[in-house]
Amino acid sequence: MNTHDPASAADFVEEVELRGHIIDSLLLPKVLDEIMSLGGTFRIADISVGHKRSDPSFSRLEVHAADPDLLRKIVTSISRHGAVPVHSRDGTLVAADIDGAFPEGFYCTTNEDSEVRLNGQWVSVAMPEMDCGIKVDAAHSTAVTVPMSDVQRGDLIVVGHAGVRVHPHQRETQSHDFFSFMSSSVSSEKPKAGTVREIAAAMRRAKEGAGRILIVAGPAVVHTGSSEHFSRLIRGGFVNVLFAGNALATHDIEQAWFGTSLGISLHEGRAMREGHEHHLRSINRVRRLGGIKAAVDAGQLTSGIMYECVTHGVPYVLAGSIRDDGPLPEVITDTLAAQRVMREHVPGVTFCLMIATTLHSIAVGNLLPAHVKVVCVDINPATVTKLADRGSFQTVGLVTDVEPFLRVLVEELELSGTI
Ligand SMILES: NC(=O)c1ccc[n+]([C@@H]2O[C@H](COP(=O)([O-])OP(=O)(O)OC[C@H]3O[C@@H](n4cnc5c(N)ncnc54)[C@H](O)[C@@H]3O)[C@@H](O)[C@H]2O)c1
Repeated sequence: MNTHDPASAADFVEEVELRGHIIDSLLLPKVLDEIMSLGGTFRIADISVGHKRSDPSFSRLEVHAADPDLLRKIVTSISRHGAVPVHSRDGTLVAADIDGAFPEGFYCTTNEDSEVRLNGQWVSVAMPEMDCGIKVDAAHSTAVTVPMSDVQRGDLIVVGHAGVRVHPHQRETQSHDFFSFMSSSVSSEKPKAGTVREIAAAMRRAKEGAGRILIVAGPAVVHTGSSEHFSRLIRGGFVNVLFAGNALATHDIEQAWFGTSLGISLHEGRAMREGHEHHLRSINRVRRLGGIKAAVDAGQLTSGIMYECVTHGVPYVLAGSIRDDGPLPEVITDTLAAQRVMREHVPGVTFCLMIATTLHSIAVGNLLPAHVKVVCVDINPATVTKLADRGSFQTVGLVTDVEPFLRVLVEELELSGTI
């Protein structure tokens, strides 16, 4: 299939290549569609399609446009899908002229594995993260993703798209990888037992392999009475790091000390007298004790999610928000500082379960590389859809109440009653 008419006037041309599972991962159709929708045309100069599911494919395309600006725009746009100009040159480096901002025209990263060409060699960019820049250490020929706020004057930053190539995550060929076959989120109207079973299997694989499991959780975990399910996951070794906010930790500790969550008795399901003060009294007591860990060490906090994290050595990052009461001493109120600490915990994470928090799920979704498998569970389809829009084969969304989800997950992991 070619759309370029040799007789047409449009004749600024760039040759690009695509390799890998470009047919079944739909990368080639995406590239062709993008060229046409941006006003260009193409000619397929060469194509070889793998015969078996595991065989990679290859395609070389000529991209044609009416003027050089349009051609640059098209080549930039299709580079996100892995199209690499055949005649690559080194990345263009410009020293940052001020702290906290990139030079104009900086290359804006995706969350996919990427490389930058330095002195004729392709060098992989460490710590892939979307919406950042690329900082180069010319002396050591290394490159790393850098967020805007961390740029320091003099840092060498990649500018423009030349000399950068992206390797989009492609559909995995192993039959057991259900993430590759789930193309949409599981709505509230579909059965979920099979999906939860697959999620449990993915968590087991992450635990048995070298991967780390990150859980991002909101206070509905406590409000719905699911703390004990969550605690079982921690005791079973299925949580390597927890990202949350003030509310999850506060209501968890409120439950441990008062038996309520936001003043509602978790046993009786009704509001307790003066219960609305319980979360503030909990925060106050933790602040008086010097923090959550100090409360555990002092023998004051003896149950709940935060207690299990402390006693099982599971690191937690509590990121602050403008609506926090208190907050608890461990809450990091500087959001940039919180992002930095979260980033420190991302390397090695292969599986992330996001439960009942829009704010923290989306924040963490922005930090994670595309290869991390993500499951987002929320009662609101909009939250799940937003996360699924990460656009990889790695995100599964489940629209459901957190309590039945966690209960069945714990059953599938055979943690009920054992731990
Ligand atoms: N008193 C406090 O200090 C306090 C109280 C609340 C929130 N906060 C903070 O505000 C920030 C935002 O809070 P957030 O993340 O809870 O709010 P959010 O609105 O970002 O997310 C809450 C999510 O929970 C989902 N949800 C609600 N009930 C559910 C259920 N039963 N099952 C599944 N999903 C369910 C909602 O659909 C929503 O997506 C956080 O940093 C939090 O710590 C502080």
